Amino acid sequence: MHTLTPDLADLLAVAAAARQRAYCPYSRFAVGAAALTASGVTFPGCNIENAAYPSTICAERVALFNAYAAGEREIVALAVIADTPGPVSPCGGCRQVIFELAPRAIVVMANLRGAWRVALIGELLPDGFSSASFDE
Ligand code: THU
Repeated sequence: MHTLTPDLADLLAVAAAARQRAYCPYSRFAVGAAALTASGVTFPGCNIENAAYPSTICAERVALFNAYAAGEREIVALAVIADTPGPVSPCGGCRQVIFELAPRAIVVMANLRGAWRVALIGELLPDGFSSASFDE
């Protein structure tokens, strides 16, 4: 049985704690996330919904935006956890945001039952859109 490295297990624990703070009265689907930066600081995130449903924001984006708002730019790992049958899988919009804001991050996907998997964004989003498309 493979085990997560201590750092990533700690990060998942932060994500699980953040999940408890999810504001999800509409879906009742609570998601937690945590971003670990190169400076060793961890930023939590949870999904935050809105009665105007599209204004909802996912846990992964809250964690990444939280880190960026603190001035961090190098995300080494991003954990996400939910009560799903298998490891929770980030939505397409979050994959695009990870592609730009955390391109080198190890993405740890997990559920509450102890299942997990790791991937790089290149695997989750091959050929993501980037500013290379409009920068010359
Ligand atoms: N959600 C996340 O926070 N992250 C994901 O990876 C999947 C979806 C949230 C958005 C919404 O609040 C709820 O889960 C149901 O889609």
